[in-house]
Amino acid sequence: MDKILVRGGRPLTGTIPISGAKNATLPALAASLLTDQPLRLSNIPHLRDVTTMLELLGQHGAAITIDEKLGVEIDCSRIHNTKAPYDLVRTMRASILVMGPLLARHGRAEISLPGGCAIGTRPVNLHLRGLEAMGAEITLEQGYIKGQAKRLRGARLVFDLVTVTGTENLMMAACLADGRTVLENAACEPEVLDLANCLNKMGARIKGAGTGTITIDGVEELRGAEHAILPDRIETGTFMIAAALTGGDVTLTHTDPSILKAPIAKLRQAGVVVEEKKGTIRVRKNGPLRAVDLQTAPYPGFPTDLQAQMLVLVSQSEGTGTITETIFENRFMHVSELQRLGADITLQGNVAVVKGGGELRGAPVMATDLRASASLVLAGLAARGETLISRVYHIDRGYERIEEKLMALGADIHRLSN
Ligand code: UD1
Repeated sequence: MDKILVRGGRPLTGTIPISGAKNATLPALAASLLTDQPLRLSNIPHLRDVTTMLELLGQHGAAITIDEKLGVEIDCSRIHNTKAPYDLVRTMRASILVMGPLLARHGRAEISLPGGCAIGTRPVNLHLRGLEAMGAEITLEQGYIKGQAKRLRGARLVFDLVTVTGTENLMMAACLADGRTVLENAACEPEVLDLANCLNKMGARIKGAGTGTITIDGVEELRGAEHAILPDRIETGTFMIAAALTGGDVTLTHTDPSILKAPIAKLRQAGVVVEEKKGTIRVRKNGPLRAVDLQTAPYPGFPTDLQAQMLVLVSQSEGTGTITETIFENRFMHVSELQRLGADITLQGNVAVVKGGGELRGAPVMATDLRASASLVLAGLAARGETLISRVYHIDRGYERIEEKLMALGADIHRLSN
């Protein structure tokens, strides 16, 4: 299993391009199941989760072509299997995204109960409740969710809590349902809007995506389309924090500052200089960092997927900050590893109290989930000495060539393969 070795202490400087968003790519790939015509997607990141989704589509019967620029064409005209097996689903929770499209177009789906990140129980009850309200019959048999429906019908649904993939799954299912579906308390994440834009290009009739109320008028069929995936705001935020943390000066291109308002505001509050231009963000440190308090929240709030990285930044700031996790239980697995590097963090339920100013010292650490592993890389960049991170397969699920991009910015970082 690969490891990453980081020797800390070098400020990051230079320019790097941001990749397409993982969390927009996965639902867009699943959307290809809604039509028998080819869907062409570009700006796809080269990630393990994307490969897993392509494998899943392939075993359903999709024909997949990848061009030299990593554009992907998916042709779902010959779907012969509506089962998503345990072996694939267990490595990626977002596999549940094929459920809505399969039910809507093929009338049945059999999905292994998902696994994925070890950050709490992460149920899919809201996905299933919504599909049931649209007329699907759902049963749970031997670890598999089985769904059946002749044709889904439109429904008015109010989510108990904001769920990103839940909103996406039901939005996709509703595209081919009979009549109108209204999703209330829907997720407003930019990735939901990106999916709606893709679906509308395919002939769907979706209004209100990006707000809390989404209205979908079902159509008989969808057609092929071309769509470029939006930039990854979590990758952008991770590199912004890395630049601030190492006292560097980094310019990120191919991104979109308008979808990073909360992280940019927090970094400025911490004393970081952030300059926004169309498609570009420049981040530099100008003076000492100040500890900040923050609370994760659904978009447009501060993203839970940047919580672990921000915790490292606060640990290297002046003063004490509190970080409150409101989206996922158990999403502080990185804290014990960061403590091993010398960070002064006390956990009180879902609140981490971070005392800044202490020096981080390199040590062997273990990645536990995707974003937690990014925080360990960042801590390694800021630490004195060597940090050896094991189980980096977590990081490959969501970051494209992280060590190469960091190396291009001057970091002393290497992947050790064995
Ligand atoms: C998505 C993102 C993930 C991000 C998360 C929150 C993708 C592929 N992944 O995950 O990176 O961290 O949003 O921004 O887009 N919940 C239920 N029942 C459900 C569904 C969710 O109780 O049926 C709960 C979850 O346990 C969690 C909260 O709702 O506490 C939000 O989860 P959700 O938005 O669904 O996360 P994902 O869509 O899985």
